[in-house]
Amino acid sequence: MRIGIIGTGNIGATLARKLSAAGHLVQVANTRGPESIVELCKEAGCAAVPLEHVTYDVELLVTCIPFARMPDIGGIVSRLPDAVPVADTSNYYPHRDARIEELDAGKPEGLWVEQKLGRPIVRAWNALVQTTLATRGRPKGDADRLAVPVAGTDCAAKQKVMGLVDDSGFDPIDAGTTDDTWRLQMGAPAYCTELNAEQMQRALTLANRDAVLARRDALLSIIASWEPNQSFFPDIVALNRAAAGLHRLIEQ
Ligand SMILES: NC(=O)c1ccc[n+]([C@@H]2O[C@H](COP(=O)([O-])OP(=O)(O)OC[C@H]3O[C@@H](n4cnc5c(N)ncnc54)[C@H](OP(=O)(O)O)[C@@H]3O)[C@@H](O)[C@H]2O)c1
Repeated sequence: MRIGIIGTGNIGATLARKLSAAGHLVQVANTRGPESIVELCKEAGCAAVPLEHVTYDVELLVTCIPFARMPDIGGIVSRLPDAVPVADTSNYYPHRDARIEELDAGKPEGLWVEQKLGRPIVRAWNALVQTTLATRGRPKGDADRLAVPVAGTDCAAKQKVMGLVDDSGFDPIDAGTTDDTWRLQMGAPAYCTELNAEQMQRALTLANRDAVLARRDALLSIIASWEPNQSFFPDIVALNRAAAGLHRLIEQ
């Protein structure tokens, strides 16, 4: 598949490597221009393009930029034909993105992104810590394969994105529509808890909408209280699991 990726940081670069390795034709773009990603492209086997060209001739677009910057790419994304799916990996972190009132009032993040872009999106890979995405992918059928929840209202688009999640080394789990994207947000049991497919299905049903935002804020304040460089990604996964009360589910 011909894939465009916007953002070449932790998530965009990792997906560029994985999807290129899986045989897809990937073109990537960021704000600094193609010359800033020469090394990545050499290593990953993808192409660097100017941001305004990233939608040219692609069959699917993946967005890997800070959540609050998503409205900036509305013009670029609007050039895509309607049938081209947009997979969005972004997460809202109030401490980084500044408070967005609608989200703090409970609007699901995926719905906010759709409204800002003016087109449907599919939410995927947002519920994996970057090291999990980079190091825990496994071939299909592997006993240690982890799951990735995928949510979006357009079923055909979601199926295509689920295929790419599979290609990236994770079991894709249908997590519902864009209205359900709160189930994939920080504070929900499916978010960055490193679960297998069976556990992920169960975690999605355990999600409690009333608790998600309060848990997110509690998690962020615990993480902010850690000394600089103290935290390690496994601490974050362990914290997310504990906040969601997943010990029994994982031990089963
Ligand atoms: N890091 C994680 O563990 C993790 C896990 C799951 C999901 N996410 C989410 O995934 C998204 C990307 O995270 P990340 O850690 O990869 O971020 P990152 O390392 O900071 O990279 C962000 C990328 O976005 C590009 N960018 C920023 N504003 C842009 C704009 N207006 N137009 C086009 N490109 C723009 C940057 O371009 P330049 O390179 O030119 O600066 C950079 O390449 C975030 O929303 C994050 O919440 C992160």
